[in-house]
Amino acid sequence: MGLLPEFRGRGLGTRLLRETLDAAHASGLSRIELEVYASNQPAIHLYERFGFKHEGCKRQARILDGQAEDILCMALVTPRSCASAA
Ligand SMILES: CC(C)(COP(=O)(O)OP(=O)(O)OC[C@H]1O[C@@H](n2cnc3c(N)ncnc32)[C@H](O)[C@@H]1OP(=O)(O)O)[C@@H](O)C(=O)NCCC(=O)NCCS
Repeated sequence: MGLLPEFRGRGLGTRLLRETLDAAHASGLSRIELEVYASNQPAIHLYERFGFKHEGCKRQARILDGQAEDILCMALVTPRSCASAA
């Protein structure tokens, strides 16, 4: 998701994510995952506040203008009964 720069920092991202997660949960999804550039502190902060957990890191996953950047993998999991593989 993304907002034009002039609309950021006003709570719209929070509202957008809340609506999206509500719709996802209402449709029965119990695992929602995303990827975010490691330098994107505003987005990471937002995702953490909604309960997304860090699950991994793709090291140097992007090289832009000679600059390498990691990509973080995050997920929000709703507890449910789970039959794990033996
Ligand atoms: C990420 C994005 C959608 C967030 O939307 P937003 O409307 O700016 O976010 P909100 O105003 O709802 O604020 C969400 C949280 O981020 C925090 N935040 C905002 N700017 C920040 C910054 N520069 N550094 C750290 N945290 C920041 C806010 O403080 C808020 O947390 P809080 O309520 O605990 O204080 C928006 O910044 C955006 O479109 N960014 C560019 C595209 C992008 O990076 N998308 C995500 C790709 S994974």
